[in-house]
Amino acid sequence: MNFKNLITALAISILVFNCSSGDDSTEPESTPNPNPNPSGKITYTGNIRSIMSGNCTSCHGSPTSNGAPTSYTTYNQVRNDVDKIISRINNASNPMPQNGLMPLATRQLIQQWKDDGLLEN
Ligand code: HEC
Repeated sequence: MNFKNLITALAISILVFNCSSGDDSTEPESTPNPNPNPSGKITYTGNIRSIMSGNCTSCHGSPTSNGAPTSYTTYNQVRNDVDKIISRINNASNPMPQNGLMPLATRQLIQQWKDDGLLEN
């Protein structure tokens, strides 16, 4: 290999190196929707409050109505009664809400909330 060929080979290899190293600087795609709850755990604010307001607080509101004995409008009220709540929402012969069981996935979410430690947020 003569000197000229050596220079040419060197120039080509520098070119190739520059091009391939350019790929390394490619930015990773930005994450458009970062998970607001990275732990993935069920929380009162994130999951449970809306179930209660959609299915229960028409009677278990503050104040209560339609003869309901308890308010379920705050984290503490729901947390303190979670065992009674889980029992009644799964009781087909005496269900809460009274007009019939909620979908299984909704009921399982409340059980999962308990299993995850009754987190508020
Ligand atoms: C249409 C009104 C109404 C709705 C909606 C309703 N409840 Fe009730 N709830 C009552 C009444 C009335 C009682 C008392 C009679 C009884 O225990 O069946 C009661 C009792 C309960 C009790 C027993 C409380 C205790 O201290 O013994 C629990 C737990 C309960 N409800 C949970 C719920 C949950 C959870 C929801 C929503 C998923 C819900 N209820 C929706 C009217 C309602």
